[in-house]
Amino acid sequence: MSILKAPLTSLRPERETPARDDAVALDLRGVQKTYDTPGRPQVEAIRRLDFSIRKGELVCVVGPSGAGKTTLLRSIAGLLELTSGEVVLDGATVTGPPQGMAVVFQEYGRSLFPWMTVRQNVELPLKEKGLGKVERRAKALTALEEVGLTEAADQHPWQLSGGMQQRVAIARAIAYEPTVLLMDEPFAAVDAQTRAELEDLVRSLWKRLGVTVLFVTHDIDEAVYLGERVIVLSNRPTVLMEDVRVDLPAKRDQLTTRSDARFGELRGHVYALIQRAKRGDRPDAPLPGGGA
Ligand SMILES: Nc1ncnc2c1ncn2[C@@H]1O[C@H](COP(=O)(O)OP(=O)(O)OP(=O)(O)O)[C@@H](O)[C@H]1O
Ligand SMILES: [Mg+2]
Repeated sequence: MSILKAPLTSLRPERETPARDDAVALDLRGVQKTYDTPGRPQVEAIRRLDFSIRKGELVCVVGPSGAGKTTLLRSIAGLLELTSGEVVLDGATVTGPPQGMAVVFQEYGRSLFPWMTVRQNVELPLKEKGLGKVERRAKALTALEEVGLTEAADQHPWQLSGGMQQRVAIARAIAYEPTVLLMDEPFAAVDAQTRAELEDLVRSLWKRLGVTVLFVTHDIDEAVYLGERVIVLSNRPTVLMEDVRVDLPAKRDQLTTRSDARFGELRGHVYALIQRAKRGDRPDAPLPGGGA
């Protein structure tokens, strides 16, 4: 069966009712971002994005380099002023970094403080949250255990490998017990083996904690392996190419899931979308061969 006849095409973005749906964690309404730096040409990064993420969903975002993925993440995290539109988190418009949201940035090296120990790094946001010393320490140690770094608690970040540092950044995010976790290409700089382990870690933490996750990656396989949906972005200025539902079994495994025929179909579909996006096709442009 051709991929285009598979249920995928019927899974084009079905807009959820944005207003007053308690099951919606994040709602992007007409989000638009143009960078307007004095003395420099304007850069229209995001033309328009509308989509919702339900509570407890794990959604991946892929798109060509420079498409506006980081801009999108920073907009959701309240770190950028939108040109128009709004990001609504649990029914309230985001106007600055919201409570209950944690972000894991790509440059983990720069996001950890070298003069603090691993445990102190993990404890820092808990301190800002107002937790007492004993509670902070207990939560930090639990999170470090979760990511397999108990032994490294008293070391400094620079004494650890890249993959371990990234796990510290993840531990810091989960110790905070966020309701929404944003991750921007968090595994781009780690080796394949560590990456597979971290992917499984994210899935198991997501399942256990019930947190809503938005995971940006340039890796199509990773997006399909991790996500329940894959949001494919167009080239800049960004619009939504397609919102692909990943109808793979919830229990994922690096070997069996990746060799599943459906995994291959989904990967092929997302790959074709990215190729189109790179060529500058917009979502309304017909697929080659006259498909849907
Ligand atoms: N602070 C800024 N000022 C001006 N332009 C910016 C700024 N930040 C990003 N841009 C531009 O906005 C566009 C989108 O950038 P963004 O970093 O969001 O893309 P991306 O999809 O995350 O790319 P990558 O895959 O390479 O990480 C790019 O053209 C970039 O040059
Ligand atoms: Mg980026």
